[in-house]
Amino acid sequence: MNLLIMGPPGAGKGTQAETLTAKLDIPHISTGDMFRKAISEGTELGKKAKEYMDAGQLVPDEVTIGIVKERLSEEDCRKGFLLDGFPRTVPQAEALEGILRELGMELDAVLNVAVPDEKLVARLTGRRICRQCGASYHVLYNAPKQEGICDACQGELYQRSDDSEETATNRLSVYHQNTAPLIDFYAKRGLLKEIDGDRPIPEVLVAIGQALGRDWA
Ligand code: AP5
Ligand code: MG
Ligand code: ZN
Repeated sequence: MNLLIMGPPGAGKGTQAETLTAKLDIPHISTGDMFRKAISEGTELGKKAKEYMDAGQLVPDEVTIGIVKERLSEEDCRKGFLLDGFPRTVPQAEALEGILRELGMELDAVLNVAVPDEKLVARLTGRRICRQCGASYHVLYNAPKQEGICDACQGELYQRSDDSEETATNRLSVYHQNTAPLIDFYAKRGLLKEIDGDRPIPEVLVAIGQALGRDWA
């Protein structure tokens, strides 16, 4: 299946993507994760992305579209993929249509995970990520068994530098301005599946399964 998961910062895209890609055995393509990796490796791409990410702004379209095109052209995406955090602007969505057409692929569904704004900042400021495997936790809503340590791999948990209250708030307004219009974009193409993300993590997964015609209860 060729899928896209969208929603505001903190909606649970990464959290759901982890389980979803394991169940469907498809690669998880998160532009945010790709940029963070590039920053930690000190590459040219990382240098370009860092100042935008630290400010909660979008990395320019031409940079972002290029890395997605490269990634989707890799062999493992032939069996399907889950895009997370891309596209985030109308020009990115239009570029994606062109890339997929060139590759002879198309999207099967777009999952839009909706959560009210007032819940999102608390989700972001309480998030912790595993330095080793990238698993995402929350100090209150999805706490690891042992504080600061990943359940899956015992890696150290850290807080993303853009998860401060100030940057999280900026990211939310950037979402409303630039990314929310994509809901309409995909509704018009008959691909949109609305998912209520304002409930416990396992319930969101079940709802996604139902939207995709699978029984994950
Ligand atoms: P990116 O990494 O994509 O960040 P984001 O879109 O802001 O989304 P998040 O990763 O913050 O949220 P999420 O929905 O994945 O939530 P999660 O599952 O972790 O992008 C970062 C930056 O990179 C951007 O600001 C931009 O600068 C740049 N960038 C990336 N893509 C780009 C693009 N295409 N174009 C331009 N720039 C780009 O969950 C959040 C927390 O909530 C966790 O703690 C989790 O445990 C908890 N949680 C999850 N689900 C639930 C639930 N159901 N109930 C309670 N808590 C929950
Ligand atoms: Mg994420
Ligand atoms: Zn881990």
